[in-house]
This record gives sequence, C-alpha cells and structure tokens, in this order.
Amino acid sequence: MSVREIYESMDYGPAPESAAEALAWLVDQGDRFGHFINGVFTDAGDGFTSCNPATGEVLATLTQATQADVDAAVAAARKAQPGWARLGGHRRARHLYALARLIQKNARLFAVLETLDNGKPIRESRDIDIPLVHRHFYYHAGMAQLMEAELPDQAALGVCGQIVPWNFPLLMLAWKVAPALAMGNTVVLKPAEYTSLTALLFADICRMAGLPNGVVNIVTGDGAVGEMITAHEGIDKIAFTGSTAVGRRIREVTAGSGKALTLELGGKSAYIVFDDADLDSAVEGLVDAIWFNQGQVCCAGSRLLVQEGIADRFYAKLTVRMDKLRIGNPLDKTIDVGAMVDAEQVARISEMVDRNTVGQRRVADVVLPDGGAFYPPTLITGLAPSDPLMQEEIFGPVLVGTTFRTPAEAIEVANNTRYGLAASVWSENVNLALDIAPKLAAGVVWVNGSNMFDAAAGFGGVRESGFGREGGWEGLRAYTRPIGKAKALEPIEAFGGAGGGVPGIDRTGKLYIGGKQTRPDGGYSRSVYGKSGKLLGQVPVANRKDVRNAVEAARGAAGWARSSGHGRAQILYYMAENLSARAEEFADRINAMTGKRQGKKEVESSISRLFTYAAWADKYDGRVHGVPIRGVAMAMHQPVGIIGALCADDAPLLGLISVIGPAMAMGNRCVVVASAPYPLAALEFVQVLETSDVPAGVVNVLTGSHAELAPHLAAHGEVDSVWSFSSSGVSSEIERASAGNLKRTWVNNAVDRDWMGVEGEGHAFLEAATEVKNIWVPYGE
Ligand code: NAI
Repeated sequence: MSVREIYESMDYGPAPESAAEALAWLVDQGDRFGHFINGVFTDAGDGFTSCNPATGEVLATLTQATQADVDAAVAAARKAQPGWARLGGHRRARHLYALARLIQKNARLFAVLETLDNGKPIRESRDIDIPLVHRHFYYHAGMAQLMEAELPDQAALGVCGQIVPWNFPLLMLAWKVAPALAMGNTVVLKPAEYTSLTALLFADICRMAGLPNGVVNIVTGDGAVGEMITAHEGIDKIAFTGSTAVGRRIREVTAGSGKALTLELGGKSAYIVFDDADLDSAVEGLVDAIWFNQGQVCCAGSRLLVQEGIADRFYAKLTVRMDKLRIGNPLDKTIDVGAMVDAEQVARISEMVDRNTVGQRRVADVVLPDGGAFYPPTLITGLAPSDPLMQEEIFGPVLVGTTFRTPAEAIEVANNTRYGLAASVWSENVNLALDIAPKLAAGVVWVNGSNMFDAAAGFGGVRESGFGREGGWEGLRAYTRPIGKAKALEPIEAFGGAGGGVPGIDRTGKLYIGGKQTRPDGGYSRSVYGKSGKLLGQVPVANRKDVRNAVEAARGAAGWARSSGHGRAQILYYMAENLSARAEEFADRINAMTGKRQGKKEVESSISRLFTYAAWADKYDGRVHGVPIRGVAMAMHQPVGIIGALCADDAPLLGLISVIGPAMAMGNRCVVVASAPYPLAALEFVQVLETSDVPAGVVNVLTGSHAELAPHLAAHGEVDSVWSFSSSGVSSEIERASAGNLKRTWVNNAVDRDWMGVEGEGHAFLEAATEVKNIWVPYGE
C-alpha cells in the first residue's frame, strides 16, 4: 500500500506490542509454577494449563493447591502476622512503597503478561489496569503511614483469605492485598484459575522487594481451592470478588465462623441517557461502559436506558460507533476489543443471547479473528425491563436497552434489578443529574462518565451486588477491628415465677407495628417475672407473621429516609424529652425486671444516647475525594434501608435505644426485637414513641424469642441489614439465613460491653446504619 493510499483510507496498520519479555519470564520460571508460600515458590505439582485466549496457545502450567498447600499458606501467614503488625505503620508503608515502585518499574512486563493471559487489549492493561495497581499500592503506603494517628483504636484483623476473579486479575489482587497489608494483616490469595500469571509475577516482586516471608502467600487452583480457603479455621476474614452465586455460597460457608466478610459481586448497571445529554459524549461513554474489557466488568454499564424522544438518534450514533470498534489481537495497540477470557465464556454468552427471542439485535460489523475466544460487540434494544437479558448479568460485550419517558420512570426502571453496583447518568442539566444520582440503588454513580475508579474512592454495591467497600477510608476499615479482646456474654435467662395476678389494673403489653399497638398474630403471651418470682406483666410472643407485618409497615415509611437530618434530630430530642418525663417509672421497671439497681443510670444513659444521635443526625457527613481524574467523588452517607435488630438482653431500655437511635438518626426504618428476658421496658417505650411524632412504621417493636425471630428477619427479602446484640447465640443463624438476598449483617456483638459508656455508641453504630455511595461528578478548573 502506498503512502497516498494509506492517507486516503486512514486504516490502522498493525502495531503489535512485543511479547518477548513476558514469554522469557515464563521460560525463566520453567513454564511450570508452584505456589508462593512463606516467601518461596513451591515445586510445581499436578495442575492445569493457563492459555492465551486470543490464540489458544498454552502459556504455562499451574498447580492445583491441595489442602496441605492451603494449610501451609495459612500457617505461614499466621506466623508472619504478629511481626508484620508490630513493624508499625511507617515500616509497612516503606514495604508498600517498594512494591508500588517495583510494579511501576515492571509495568510493561505486567501489562503484556496480563494481556497474554486474559485477552484484554494491551491499551487497557497498559493504561488502565497497571497504573491503577501501582496507584493502589502508593495510596495504601500512605494509609499504613497514617494508621496509628488516624485509626488509633483499630488493629489488624489477622490473616485474610482473598479470592479474586479473572476480569482484572492484578487490579483485583491490588485492591485486596494493599489495604490488608497496610493495616497489618497477612494474606493468602487465590487468583482465578484462568488468570494466575500476574499474581505469580507479583509474588516474584514481593520477593524482590524483600517483603517478610509469609506476609503474602499465593495459592493457585479452582473453586475447590477457594472453598478450602473460605472454610479454613486459621483465617479471620474473607474478601471475595466474583459471581453472586459463589458469593452466596461463601456467605453460607462462613456463617457462624466469626470470620469477617466482604463481597463484591455481580451487577447489571444502568446507563441512563436523558434527552438533554451530550449524545456524542454519551456514545463514547458507552464504549467505555460496555466494551471496555469486552464487557467483562462487574460494574459495566450493561443496561442502556434512553429517553424516548432521542432513542432513535442515539441508537443510530451508537451503531455507527460500534461498527468502528476494532476487534483483534489484544497485543495490537490499535485494538479496542480483545478476546474473552476463555472459549467457555464465549459459549455461555452465545447461549444466553441466542435464547433471547425479543427485541432487535444489532451485531457490530466487524470481522472476528480466527481461532481465539472472540465475541462481537452487540446491541439489543426494544426489551422490556423484566426480560431475562435486562435482568441477568451477561458479562460480555452485549448491551441491552430500553427507553423511558420521565426521570421518575428512569429511576423506576434503573432500580428494577436485584443488583445495585453502579450506574451512569448522562445529562447536561446538573440539577437533573444530581437529583437522580441519590435515588439510584447503587454503590457508585458516575455523572457524565462511566467505569472510573481510584484508590481514594470506595467501590462496592448494595443488594445482591454484595456488601463492603474497597478503596478509600471505608475500604480500609474493613481490614481492621477495634483494639482489645472482648469477653463473650453468657446467655441471660428470664426469671421464673409461679404466676399469680398482676397488681393494679391489668396493662396489656402489645406489639408495636406501623404506629399501632397490635396483638400478636399467634395469640400467645408470656409472663415476665422479677428476681423474687413476682409477676410483673405479660408480653406478646411475636411470630413470623408479625415480622412480616412489621417489615411491611417499615417499607411504608420510606419517606423517613428523605427527611432532613435536622428534622430527625428534632424527633430524637422529643423522644428524650418524653422519656425524661417518665424517668422514675422506667427506672423502677428496669430494677424490677433485672433485679439490679441499674434503672436510674440506664434511663439517664438512654436520654443521653438519644441526645447523642440527635446530635449525629445532621453531622455524620460524607467526604469529597480528590481523584486524579477531572472530577471529584462525593462519598455520601445514605441510610441502609430497613434494619432488623435483636436488642441487647442485659440493658432492657438502653439496648433498645442504642439500636433505634443510630438507625433513626441516619434515616433508616427498623424492626427491633426487645431484650428477651426483660422485654417490658421496650413495650412501655412504645408510648414514648407514640407521643414523640415518630412517623408510623419508622420503629416497630416486637417481643418474643430471639432464636425464633432472628431467622425470619434474616431471611426476609426486604430487610436490608440485621444486627444482633442478643445473648442467645443467634449470630450464625442470621448469617446463614442472610445469604438469600445477601443482606448486610452486624452480628457477633454479644460481648460484655458497658452499654452506659462510650462502647455503647458512636462510629461503629453510625457506620452500620449507613451505606457509602460514591457519586463521581465532573469538577474542574
Ligand atoms: P466465579 O465467581 O466462579 O469465580 C471467581 C473466583 O471465585 C475464582 O477465583 C474462582 O476460582 C473462585 N471460586 C469459584 N467457586 C468458589 C467457591 N465455591 N468458593 C470459593 N471460591 C470459589 O466466576 P466464574 O465462574 O469465573 O464466572 C462465572 C460468571 O460469574 C461470569 O460469567 C460472570 O457473570 C460472573 N463474574 C462476575 C465477576 C464480577 O466481578 N462481578 C467476576 C467474575 C465472574
């Protein structure tokens, strides 16, 4: 072709990146890898091959870890952990800094190896994955440095088991390893079986950086190895990124083990284009949203919602752009779309797409390269929000779409999903964009952008997209626990008695549901006795149906989330005022129930606690993260939604207030089960709620057996989080039952805590009562 012809056609010539160095590194390692345990590579054992999905060529042979390998890795991590934590923040910061520097110095080797192993375009691994990896290590070197000053009450969790997927192999490793190490934890990490090579190169870098032995351990293998890690008794926390199905399984396996858990799962993120959007930018944004990494992105903008009036124009622009995407050899620097991770994924996606019989399918006019695992960029429009392709995660370069008429409808359709990871909003009207962003059920929202990430901004979802955040301060706290050892609380039994009449006129305690006192569905009551066996009263025994009714009432009170912090504070103050007016009566009741003289102090503390949360209601602010992209990420605190809580048994009134205080202050609605042995004070507190302008349904109070009610709360699909301070050992059951809708849990709290002191209030409660939503907005000078 002559120069003149080239200028005329403006075709791209091939510009391949050399694979020589990466292949030489594989040869140096003998093409066969063992695991990285206690600072050394073990001998290679039986295993499987890792292939280049663009060509099918075998790159290396990897070892399937055995139980003995996992045991050895955990033992090495356990042995190394105390010394690593004791090194102190500054020494750990130096190690993390060294890792960041070495990754940066070997950036091209990492990028090429990632592309060979995963199939993603070199442009992406070189310009996005690897720069974000060293950014993560630099950022967390800083966090290690600041830990002692900024998190003085927090300590490392211990040994962290980390399981990562294949779509961003090294980046997901960095997201997990950097914060864990910064906070003084050691790790056992398992890369995905398709893509383990950059993790092994990272192991080599750890060796080069002089990281103490056992701080980072990497074992390779499939889901069976993941399961060995998940179930291992020597591990204190599991951090997982991957499919929702496996996340659910991990929730079940870890239930009751006391392990901390964070889950970053699937998504079906909405990409909303309003009629006043800059359509060309929105089209470019879509290229990054759904064709970046061949659509194998958990937060891919995979569900296109376009405002009706511009839909045809937008689709026309989009299809022109689609046809211009270049698909081919991922090592070619001019390529936009590379290979899928494996032929199995191509088959899975083809099957899903071919099963669909509705809408219009448009496949990009591209020629697929021979041999490799390629799938063409595809657009399917005209779907209904409930169609399977609009609901299921495809995890490939397939964009599905529908239209909407009004902003309200856009929100409704966007939120019509079991997931809640991310969303993009496109509009030139800042009022509209910032009105919509808070209303979307998602952990991350990009305004006029998509797929932007940074170490400073937390990332993570709500609903079945999992729980916990990675990145930012909130991601960091997920690798720490409060300093000190807590003493487990013994179960507290109710006092017995011989029956007899209640003195004075019989006052019938009732459940409090939807602002009304109601009889229990089952029609049963139980007698409550004092220490000397004297009958103090009767309380209803709530059952599953009462839980259901209470959750329904809470759902009806959604307006509470939209009330102002100031308004919520007023109501909490009012509750304190009304409680204070009856302080003596409550104190006597508490003394009679518990047989201790704690009543007066408990009531005083309860009034003070209501003041505490009235104070926080308008002060627990989010942050604005400076991210190295033209914009800022606003980390906003949002209510979790409906919180189910089992109150402390040992503090009949204060245990209740300590739960409803933070929940209400942050805009949640709650269904609380009162102290099981001493339930009367909670039912009397209902009268305080009734006279303090608390809207119906915001607080619902049940009495009954914690063991009986906990699983119903935990299994309820509309409860967003369950807390337990119960002494009756219900934490495992809650964790197990929560796997259904993958709700957050805050359990294992049955510790001997001084409810009257600072342990009974503060940041831990506020964090549990909020979700952090990162809203990325353009902001530039
Ligand atoms: P996966 O969830 O099975 O794999 C992710 C990681 O979990 C891998 O390291 C795997 O070995 C490990 N794993 C598998 N079973 C396990 C178990 N029982 N216990 C512990 N660890 C286990 O994802 P897979 O099969 O690779 O992909 C299937 C689908 O999952 C994809 O097509 C996609 O829809 C979704 N996916 C979503 C990701 C996300 O970031 N949201 C990432 C990867 C996959």
